[in-house]
Amino acid sequence: MSALPDSTRDETTYQRIQVVPLAGSLGAEIGGVDLRHLDDADFAEVHRAWLQHQVIYFRGQTMTPDEHLDFARRWGDIHIHPFNAPMEGYPEILQILKTEAATRNNGNRWHSDQMYTAAPAKATILLAREMPPYGGDTMFSNLYLAYETLSDGMKEMLSGLKGVHNGNSSKNFLGGSRAAQAKMGLIPTPQKHPDPDVQTVSVHPIIRTHPETGRKALYIGSHTERFDGMTDDESKPLLDYLMAHTSRPEFICRVRWEVGTLTMWDNRCCQHYALNDYQGQRRCVHKITVKGDTPF
Ligand SMILES: [Fe+2]
Repeated sequence: MSALPDSTRDETTYQRIQVVPLAGSLGAEIGGVDLRHLDDADFAEVHRAWLQHQVIYFRGQTMTPDEHLDFARRWGDIHIHPFNAPMEGYPEILQILKTEAATRNNGNRWHSDQMYTAAPAKATILLAREMPPYGGDTMFSNLYLAYETLSDGMKEMLSGLKGVHNGNSSKNFLGGSRAAQAKMGLIPTPQKHPDPDVQTVSVHPIIRTHPETGRKALYIGSHTERFDGMTDDESKPLLDYLMAHTSRPEFICRVRWEVGTLTMWDNRCCQHYALNDYQGQRRCVHKITVKGDTPF
């Protein structure tokens, strides 16, 4: 195994917030801020910490849905989910609820949000409303590290490839279209009806350049069906290798939630995975996503 790149983190550069890294790979807990009352200088440091650590979380944020939205809008326009139905009264917020009786949860696979759209969400901002006493953590993986630790030969080969990402595939792990899955009760989140007429397949570079940091990331997730110009069978061995590579333990951090924890991550350079290890328990988060650019 090749050595990981040196960390370039410098926590002393923050004057207004506390930044405590969560793992060697990515993630940081941010202290000293109430997200309802951020002035521009506070926000600038939070933004910098987010770009540096890719996943940041804040404890004890007792925000109303409107305050959650106000915070999200500071990052850009709100991205509307193409399939999941919004929370009543809040068209820009999704309620991700798993009841005591439910067996499936949302996001139980490595993925980057809505990478199958032409301009995938750049940020996802989740606020914990109800949490089981334990379980229901979210894992994140660092796609910069996934890229940087590939061999030069692999980097060169991937630099010419594009991924075909499908958000409504009958070939996915559940089988069937979203509408069929929803009808069978396989999708835990309420769906828009009728099934929306939206773009569900997009082609993006496998090696993506982050528009704000300029760093390269391996842009891949469970929506990635094949390489553009190749068959599923031709693509599968390399996709399987790359998906296993991106979820190496050294590339991961794991956020443990409490009610009032707000976690936001950068979909342009990390994947996430919602653990389903709390059967019989109730868990509810509110989710807002922020619009992103077309990957290049
Ligand atoms: Fe997700």
